[in-house]
Amino acid sequence: MPSSTHHKARRRQLLATIDTPVLLMAGGWISRNYPANWSPFRADSTFLFFFPQPEPNAAALFDPKDGSVTLFLDERTQADALWHGPVPSFADVKRALGVTRVEKRADLKRLVAKQCGTRKVRTLAIADQRATAEARAITGDKVDFFDSSRVGDQDLLLAIAKLRNHRAPDELAEMRQAAAVTREAHTVAMARTRPGIYEQELVGHVEGTFVRHGCVPAYNTILSVRGEVLHNTTHANLLHDTDVVLLDAGAEMASGYCADVTRAWPVSGRFSPEARDVYDVVLAAEQAAIAAVKPGVRYRDLHLLSARVLSDGLVQMGLMHGDADALVESGAHAMFFPHGVGHLLGLDVHDMEAFGDLVAYGPGRKRSKQFGTAYLRLDLDLEAGMCFTIEPGIYFVPAILRDPAFRKQFKGQVDFARAEHFLTMNSLRGFGGIRIEDDVLCTKSGPEVLTAAVPKERVAVEALVGSGGA
Ligand code: GLY
Ligand code: MN
Ligand code: MN
Repeated sequence: MPSSTHHKARRRQLLATIDTPVLLMAGGWISRNYPANWSPFRADSTFLFFFPQPEPNAAALFDPKDGSVTLFLDERTQADALWHGPVPSFADVKRALGVTRVEKRADLKRLVAKQCGTRKVRTLAIADQRATAEARAITGDKVDFFDSSRVGDQDLLLAIAKLRNHRAPDELAEMRQAAAVTREAHTVAMARTRPGIYEQELVGHVEGTFVRHGCVPAYNTILSVRGEVLHNTTHANLLHDTDVVLLDAGAEMASGYCADVTRAWPVSGRFSPEARDVYDVVLAAEQAAIAAVKPGVRYRDLHLLSARVLSDGLVQMGLMHGDADALVESGAHAMFFPHGVGHLLGLDVHDMEAFGDLVAYGPGRKRSKQFGTAYLRLDLDLEAGMCFTIEPGIYFVPAILRDPAFRKQFKGQVDFARAEHFLTMNSLRGFGGIRIEDDVLCTKSGPEVLTAAVPKERVAVEALVGSGGA
């Protein structure tokens, strides 16, 4: 867990950049089936950025006028102690966190009004809609979590993003630990793979590994022999020895920091000739994009670089025709690589995605409208301290490769007849897809791959498959 000194420094940094009070909400319990049946509590990521392990319903008022931070917590009750165990007193919390004061959550509205008077108070919309509605009522800020242009005041979003985008040592330590747990989960899944089991059995090993280390899945685990379904979260398929398993899973630490890693491997332990070619091209595209990471590089250029390497490889495989630059220029590569090469990573697996392109592209930079590149989630100029993923892939998606409009548009550039072989191989189940994803820190001297220990060399992956466990 990041130290209290770390969090205190982060709060001071925010106070130094704001000129009006800011109210942040942690969010509360979200129920399923009936009110007392709660989903696991996860505080809003911006709140987590400033406070360790926030309590449900916590709120915080940052006031730059006097440099104070007031934390609001639910009053301690006997029922809580009975059902959920003892909780630290307000005095203990104040001492441990080093905040200016701790007040009763029930007094939030009254005390914000008392402290701020007629000054404008800004807030952020968060995933918990009840908490957001309360913050709106208190501040009058018409924020909306589901409209990225209204998640918060633009200056406030940019100020928070500037802090969240430059990892401090305590944060990196958490991300390295998340990467280590994620490495174990991926290698266990590879080792336990064998024909005749169901995807969900491997998911049990992946998520069990997270839980054994005090982590949770940072997002819905994607483990599928249908790797061409990009965010496939069903786990009911039986593994055939001719299938390729794609695992996209990452651990989230108790602090909220996470990893996001994808690997792919053959159920049999040996890639087919087609799968070997696809794997090697995806790995080459990933490594080329990673090698190009350094401060000042535009993230979109990493996307286009990986698209060119993929296109080159697809030409070698007879799946495309022409010159890589021209193929990427026309968008033909998206027939096999229909998504962006990655995104920011930190407390959210798509870090600060709720803040919209204002933060992920920067003020004034607009998304491409071209199919494929339109899904690029990040287009900043890289700076030292930024963390992001690099995750190219090649997929055989029937809905894309058999689409009459695409077939017309990319006739001559895409060999749709050859693609049909991949769509129908594997006893008509099709090839699926292969993605390789790592988490990268941009340093002054270039890339540091936080997830480098997760095996990805083809031979190393093959050697691990089926190597352990019943
Ligand atoms: N795990 C989701 C993604 O890679 O974006
Ligand atoms: Mn990712
Ligand atoms: Mn992923």
